[in-house]
Amino acid sequence: RERIARAADAKKSPIVLALDLPTSKRNLPAFAAKTIRAVGQHICAVKMNFHLILPLSASEISRINKLVHSYGLQSIADIKLNDIENTNEVAIDHLTRMGFDAVIANPFIGKGGLAALVQKAHKAGAGVIALVYMSHPGAKEGFGLEVGGRGLYSEFLERATGAGADGIVVGATQLDILRQVAKQQLPVYSPGIGAQGGDAEQAIRSGADYLIIGRSIVEAAQPAKVAKEIQSRILLSVRK
Ligand code: C5P
Repeated sequence: RERIARAADAKKSPIVLALDLPTSKRNLPAFAAKTIRAVGQHICAVKMNFHLILPLSASEISRINKLVHSYGLQSIADIKLNDIENTNEVAIDHLTRMGFDAVIANPFIGKGGLAALVQKAHKAGAGVIALVYMSHPGAKEGFGLEVGGRGLYSEFLERATGAGADGIVVGATQLDILRQVAKQQLPVYSPGIGAQGGDAEQAIRSGADYLIIGRSIVEAAQPAKVAKEIQSRILLSVRK
């Protein structure tokens, strides 16, 4: 939690780059490295999802993480961990050995499971970011379900806080939920900007601390230009 806050301060950017490369790209490690070099000055962290974690080897991922760190950035593994305690622990072992600084986990596993996962990650020097509300249209069918007179997401938020998680994920397409969760202490990571219809400034104004942005930067003709534009717009809107 502190390391990403320092990186965001140093880079003057709350952008977490979702390094979601299309399957059509041929040399994925080379393209990943090129993208990090291009936008490294405009972001505070890189998030890797199945786009890279499935096709690449552990040593290829480790090399990408070394590059990420050499730019003063943090690295987040987004596999939305959601399994039994033993499996989650093994996943954390592998992911931290590959150089990830944090993992995203799904509080659906329950209070105990999430607490154990956080403990394990913290022991390994890594953080845990809990999924509280996703960004896609179907999110309300899961995270928005009414349970005991309230949305499941508010239970997930409590679990994240109780387990000592380092942050939460709430989609930038869910501004009312963002405003609700912004009142609590955990840093909020917000995906869904651009390609999924969310807006960077609105998300920040509604309480997001970090913006997770993928396709609008990664698939742009000039990724650095787009990342810089978003960074400047956010800096300006925060100053207003
Ligand atoms: O390309 P785009 O900016 O939509 O990428 C968003 C990234 O954030 C993807 O990697 C997606 O899997 C992830 N994500 C999300 N919504 C969540 C959690 C993660 O879009 N609630």
